[in-house]
Amino acid sequence: MKLKMIPKIENRVTARAAVLVIGSGGREHALVWKLKQSPSVKEIYCAPGNAGIAELATLVSIKANDVEGLFQFAAKNRIDLTVVGPEVPLVKGIVDRFEKDGLKIFGPSKRAAELEGSKAFAKHFMEKYHIPTANFHTFTRAQSAEAERYIQQHSAPLVVKADGLAAGKGAVVCQTQTEALNILDEFFGKNIFGEAGSTVVIEEFMQGEEASVFVLTDGTDYQFLQPAQDHKQIFDDDRGKNTGGMGAYAPAPVVTNTVMKRVEEEIVKPVLRGMREEGRTYKGCLYVGLMITAGGPKVVEFNCRFGDPEAQTVLPLIDGDLFEILSASAVGSFGSIKVNHHDASAVCVVMASRGYPDEYETGKIIHGLESVRAEDGIVVFHAATKKQNELFITAGGRVLDVTAIGYRSDLEGTISSAYSAVKRITFDGAYYRSDIGKKGLRHNE
Ligand code: AMP
Ligand code: GLY
Repeated sequence: MKLKMIPKIENRVTARAAVLVIGSGGREHALVWKLKQSPSVKEIYCAPGNAGIAELATLVSIKANDVEGLFQFAAKNRIDLTVVGPEVPLVKGIVDRFEKDGLKIFGPSKRAAELEGSKAFAKHFMEKYHIPTANFHTFTRAQSAEAERYIQQHSAPLVVKADGLAAGKGAVVCQTQTEALNILDEFFGKNIFGEAGSTVVIEEFMQGEEASVFVLTDGTDYQFLQPAQDHKQIFDDDRGKNTGGMGAYAPAPVVTNTVMKRVEEEIVKPVLRGMREEGRTYKGCLYVGLMITAGGPKVVEFNCRFGDPEAQTVLPLIDGDLFEILSASAVGSFGSIKVNHHDASAVCVVMASRGYPDEYETGKIIHGLESVRAEDGIVVFHAATKKQNELFITAGGRVLDVTAIGYRSDLEGTISSAYSAVKRITFDGAYYRSDIGKKGLRHNE
């Protein structure tokens, strides 16, 4: 099948802009891949990037959280637009630093990024603006006795969350009150998340199916990307430990047009308005983590960036110039932007190292990458690879994000196409889930 949404990447003579992408995972590879297709992009730098990204961009050896180092690089190299992948530099205020000296950057300011950086802030904000979310209470370390009492007075399951950034490990769903009390002790007593865990949110458990909705905005005008679904647990049927995400697909049919309309009216509009009213105008990508409950969509969490691995599915579906879209968000001219989508579906299967999300080995040679071709509707985004003697080797827990793009009406075919590519790629200890996208088929029945 020949699909026009995977165009051959080439440097065009009309090229102008220099872009810097910050981060080093599959999400950043997808951003670089999509930006490379823009006629107005001349040169892409990625800091620090990975071996897969190096095929499309010039790698810059500056860490993603080195805000001042990144600013100096962008200023010196006359970067026209910087695109931030991960949350840590955003929460540290990279956007404020760039904008102070007039550099264009895609992402929210430090105060706006608090929607992800502080769960307590996000929950109080939602309460103030009547945005549907789980009932909750927040407690500081000094209030640990009250927190214990709160747990004893509320029936399980309960969810205990660290307030600050905890690399995706800060939320624990507790099936019993005893488990919740133990987790509270880990956060407050054993201090496992340090400062990030010095305030906790304890909230009611919401029943339903999860989905991720991405909003691109300049703070006032906004456009939606296709709704996606992540697969957070390590084993099939959502069993086992939480990971960074073992696969994703989009569009996710659980987010029907009716659900999307409710998300827009009940969540997105009040969030953007509320953030403006609070003097925290939100621009960039707002990731709305949803639980689709019997009573409608409710917010599980906000993130201040694209999801990973969801980005690997939603970015290829955009029928348009990503550079133009992200620039318009950065400069506040989003009213002129209309994001169109291909009539397609995308499925991304993460290939991980044996042992992930616990200890795993790296340095394994990856075979079969040459057998996977864009002409067949497949793109392999690299999450963690290195090059050694001209060969790609594994360099992390999540290694490759094998992404298939197919017809929207044929999610099943797109899933098969992703798995047929996955089976042609091998490395010692490669592990992947075998049910990515299956939930979507259930809805399509
Ligand atoms: P968070 O870091 O807030 O996104 O939480 C991580 C994961 O925990 C989510 O993706 C959900 O699977 C689960 N979770 C968090 N909060 C709740 C809740 N209130 N009810 C049900 N599941 C939740
Ligand atoms: N896919 C989950 C995240 O990016 O946080």
